[in-house]
Amino acid sequence: MAETLHVATGTKEEKYRTLLPQILQLIDGEPDLIANLANITAALKETFGFFWVGFYLVKEGELVLSPFQGPIACTRIRKGRGVCGTAWQQAVTLVVPDVDAFPGHIACSSASRSEIVVPLIDDNRQVWGVLDIDSDLLNDFDDTDRWYLETLCSYIKPQTTCEL
Ligand code: SME
Repeated sequence: MAETLHVATGTKEEKYRTLLPQILQLIDGEPDLIANLANITAALKETFGFFWVGFYLVKEGELVLSPFQGPIACTRIRKGRGVCGTAWQQAVTLVVPDVDAFPGHIACSSASRSEIVVPLIDDNRQVWGVLDIDSDLLNDFDDTDRWYLETLCSYIKPQTTCEL
């Protein structure tokens, strides 16, 4: 496993293109889900400097806070609540340019201004968690983030080793 992360300079797309193969290498051969989610959040934070990046995992009918980087956050989110609970319920990625304009947004921090939430979907089309990224800038996420983060999330399996 590489010990240092190479962060590309340049566009958002160049950063994702440099980051994703490194994440695949990081998680390849490691079956422990929490270890992999922890490294993925660290790699995303180091590459983009996002205000908050982390995972919530479905446990006993709720989303429960899991590995993250950033300020402390709410620990449990019910289905259909906030951006995370809505992305879970609808099984779709949500890009929210202005969190104050999203009905029911859960404000873990007043500094959060925009957000993207990508569901983790298993082979039976069931959502088993979400990746949540918050920015302190308005309108910070677009289709480039959606595409690369959905690709990244497709690599993450609930328990099994990632296959390159
Ligand atoms: N804002 C999220 C809650 C999680 S925090 O942002 C870390 C939401 O509305 O679901």
